Amino acid sequence: MRHKHSDYMNWSKTQSHARYNLATSGAAPFPLRELAVHLDTLEINGSDNGYGYPPLQKAIAAHHDVDPDCVVESAGTSMANHLAMASIIEPGDEVLIEHPAYGPILDVARDLEANVKRFRRMDEAGWAIDPKAIRDRITPNTRLIVITNLHNPTSALTPDGVLQEIGDIARSVGAFVLVDEVYLDAVYQGTPRTSFHLGPEFVVTSSLTKVYGVSGLRCGWILAQHDLAWKMRKLNDLYSATPVYPGQLLAVAVFKQLNQVREKARRIVEADRKLLRDFLVKQSGVSAVCTDWGTTSFVQLEQGNADDFLKRLRTEFETAAVPGRFFEMPDHFRVGMGVNTEMFAEGLKRIARALVEA
Ligand SMILES: Cc1ncc(COP(=O)(O)O)c(C=O)c1O
Repeated sequence: MRHKHSDYMNWSKTQSHARYNLATSGAAPFPLRELAVHLDTLEINGSDNGYGYPPLQKAIAAHHDVDPDCVVESAGTSMANHLAMASIIEPGDEVLIEHPAYGPILDVARDLEANVKRFRRMDEAGWAIDPKAIRDRITPNTRLIVITNLHNPTSALTPDGVLQEIGDIARSVGAFVLVDEVYLDAVYQGTPRTSFHLGPEFVVTSSLTKVYGVSGLRCGWILAQHDLAWKMRKLNDLYSATPVYPGQLLAVAVFKQLNQVREKARRIVEADRKLLRDFLVKQSGVSAVCTDWGTTSFVQLEQGNADDFLKRLRTEFETAAVPGRFFEMPDHFRVGMGVNTEMFAEGLKRIARALVEA
């Protein structure tokens, strides 16, 4: 029986909500009223958008400084990851995925009947990737290496030098490297260029969801070389015959004021990050690797099981965070920054109380 579900996504939709919701991963919703667009400029049906709406293709391409022909539009990074993996992998192919990993990436690889292998990120080194761990596990049957950059859940940033080494390893066996960069623009200073520029073996996925707070538009994309890009567009014909035209128009409007949208989120993310740092310095019983970027942090509970702790946190303290078991690390939990600083501060206070009363 094929694997056809995502436990994490189901939990996120049905059980993650709470009054003090730290189970988030993206910025606060950006309100439509702050977007410089008028309803009478929108339209429901388009005629020239079947394989991508040219102004949106251009906007995405300009954002990454790539050829618009390399841009494949998709319904969020979720569909982008699916299209990328499904276009590259055949059943039985080896796919090497980071550990810990964002659950749906593993779910898609398993659904595609890939032979999933793992390499461990080094928690002892700030969750960095050691290319040797990849070199040790790669085989001639490896078709794809998958990483997230920034890493979900820890927000670790992988530098270009390491990405380049991973690309070299992949090239040596004819494999691709899929880099999910949905959080990369949450590096607010010196934002790195997309890894797509590092070589033809790189395939990149991203969207306007997490860092920009316009998740409802489902504006996602893949960056891939021309032939592979067409394979993905044709595969997408099986899932969503045509894109959502009003969504494409609104996404173009977002790109026109992208900096403003990002800066709005940045203020909240940075205020929350400061609170989290202070909390981690003072609070016993928990620890985490602190980064200067990203919207999530992966907190280790020094004693006990995070599931039990989070159950109590929800029922007694009305506060939610993401259980580490969704990242295969049950003694951790993930907190999200960037939604509402008052809520975040109160959520941290409640975590502190729950720890004391444990
Ligand atoms: C690493 C990663 N990729 C993809 C997604 C899904 O993104 P989107 O909302 O753009 O589909 C998420 C959402 O949490 C994520 O963390």
